[in-house]
Amino acid sequence: MKKLLNLLGLILILSSCTQTKNTNMFDIFSPDEQVHASFFLTAKGRPAYKLSFKGKTIIDTSYLGFKLKEGDFPSVGMTVENHETSQVNETWEMPWGEKRNVINHYHELIINLKESQPPQRKMNLIFRVYNDGIGFRYEFPEQENFTKAIIMEEKTQFNLVGDPLVWWQPGDWDIYEHLYNTSRFSEIDALSKRDHADLAQTHIPENAVNTPVTMKTNDKIYLSFHEANLTDYSGMTLKVDTAGLSMESCLVGSERSGFKVKRSLPFKTPWRTIQIAETAGGLIESDLIVNLNEPNRLGDISWFTPMKYAGIWWEMHLGKSTWAYEGGKHGATTEHAKELIDFASENNIGGLLVEGWNTGWEHWIGFEEREGVFDFVTPYPDYNLEEVVRYGREKGVELIMHHETSAAPRTYEQQLDTAFSLMQKLGIHSVKTGYVGKIIPKGEYHHGQWMVNHYRKVLETAASYKIAVNAHEPIKATGIRRTLPNAISREGLRGQEFNAWAKDGGNPPEHLSIIAFTRMLAGPIDFTPGIFDIKFKEWKEMNQVNTTLAQQLALYVVIYSPIQMAADLIENYRGNPAFRFIRDVGVDWEQSLVLNGEPGDYVTIAREEKNTGNWFVGGISDENARDMVINFDFLPDGITFEASIYKDGANAHWDKNPLAISIDSRHIKKGDELNVWLAPGGGFAISLLATGGSE
Ligand code: NOJ
Ligand code: CA
Repeated sequence: MKKLLNLLGLILILSSCTQTKNTNMFDIFSPDEQVHASFFLTAKGRPAYKLSFKGKTIIDTSYLGFKLKEGDFPSVGMTVENHETSQVNETWEMPWGEKRNVINHYHELIINLKESQPPQRKMNLIFRVYNDGIGFRYEFPEQENFTKAIIMEEKTQFNLVGDPLVWWQPGDWDIYEHLYNTSRFSEIDALSKRDHADLAQTHIPENAVNTPVTMKTNDKIYLSFHEANLTDYSGMTLKVDTAGLSMESCLVGSERSGFKVKRSLPFKTPWRTIQIAETAGGLIESDLIVNLNEPNRLGDISWFTPMKYAGIWWEMHLGKSTWAYEGGKHGATTEHAKELIDFASENNIGGLLVEGWNTGWEHWIGFEEREGVFDFVTPYPDYNLEEVVRYGREKGVELIMHHETSAAPRTYEQQLDTAFSLMQKLGIHSVKTGYVGKIIPKGEYHHGQWMVNHYRKVLETAASYKIAVNAHEPIKATGIRRTLPNAISREGLRGQEFNAWAKDGGNPPEHLSIIAFTRMLAGPIDFTPGIFDIKFKEWKEMNQVNTTLAQQLALYVVIYSPIQMAADLIENYRGNPAFRFIRDVGVDWEQSLVLNGEPGDYVTIAREEKNTGNWFVGGISDENARDMVINFDFLPDGITFEASIYKDGANAHWDKNPLAISIDSRHIKKGDELNVWLAPGGGFAISLLATGGSE
């Protein structure tokens, strides 16, 4: 049977990659033949491509190439030396993830190009066409007289058709902690977003956007542009030509080195990706980004278990306690950690993050001299690391290590082995890292090649110590988690913490209904949901969370991460019946389905927990109230689930009445329907327990 399928595949590929009469034009189709990419050389030998979906052009003629230190590449017309096509249709298993099995089915076209006159340099282009989009990359093959490439700019174009609606954030070389903007493409104005009171690092040199950037065309097709497998290269922002309605790659640079990328040949660039879907939810269900990465290199990583975690964390953001020891309000004490371990172990929470445990915090934010400040092995005097680890182990709660580097990566690299050895000795299998501030040395940015390599070095070194990494102020996610599944989660967005202190009032109610269709396409997010004391008046007069309580519950399902924080102070959970949802909700999934959604408006996701058969559903709304009908057709036949439904109470409102919540229980089975009302800034969460649930 398999042979027959392979044969059928071969026939399909023969018919789906054709070279038209023009010997310089190559067409390649997706397995379902709906996505169609064409590569061609112009009359002058310039490489270009086009893309269409269901017969409609999505990307019109767009040129490909580079500006190298010595000039343009190609500098003269190119000729096609050779081309090859192939296909892959395989299924691989995620060690943890939104689903167990991922289908990787694509048609590939490789074109070998050469400059037609001296210097006759070679370049290959690789296209992979999937049912859910395309990826293409450049290969600089081994060749004589061209052994090193100093890239001043990559010049990959994306020439759009029409003026789509875009969900975008400014192309920042440092940080992805911006709000998303919604506008027509022709109205993108990233430079107006430069001034930001809440960011310790930001650099926006061009009218460009960060990726993923998501769009809806006038034909109601959803597109998202990003990159996959960002390895030993600079992150790509997309420079926007609002008049010409096109985008061009703008790599993150370095004032220290004066170039954007330096590589020895042979090498391949990251994939440039375009996800395509007819529904917005299709973008979330797409596996394009992980599929374009190499298979798992770590093998068995069962030493990391997806988990919920509590933390000595939100209290610092509220100002209740401090990271620093001095000042009399130190949060990370042995006693406090034990109190949280007790709470976690009673409530199906497997991890505890303790921030502010190590020396150095007295010289954190605002200090220019940050080299050599943090020490990743020395606890403050009121924190007995060994004892906390021992107590946690006794109670079945594993400690999550914290390493705030304060954006001094050289100091961190010097201590990596010592720091990870200590963790290994103590049996700690995950670390949250942080890179707050401008990168030292000056002139480097969080998303430049130098830092891309630093983040990778940390990840690879961590893997060798059986340590999983959750990076904050990270390099953006590009699907590396497939290859190195110890890349468990990351920030790289405006997380919950902004609600505690942002001068601009925090994340608006629409924030996460945009995040789900933009940032989340890149990979898992450590958003840190679950704030119950929405207004936290005791701590901050001017700040609050801008959602209802029910939406905070929904986020455990909507926002995917294999580690999910129960972020609030434990006193706000104790005695609150809504907390049961956090206790019950899964963190590792057999499958995930997007039931409905529209960027910036609403989204509902259903996920089946791995190995239990339990399902969880979460839905969120923007600042508008809405009614929804949830159809339980996705449930398996013949099982009646014990459902608990947590939804916005009558008159709930993110600002005026955020705590109103209604909780009820009933039986639900396949085919049932449920009407839910989502308040402005609201949401709902449903647990469907196959076994009757926890007590
Ligand atoms: C910024 C991180 O996003 C936050 O979670 C952390 O508490 C601080 N840095 C301190 O490392
Ligand atoms: Ca942050």
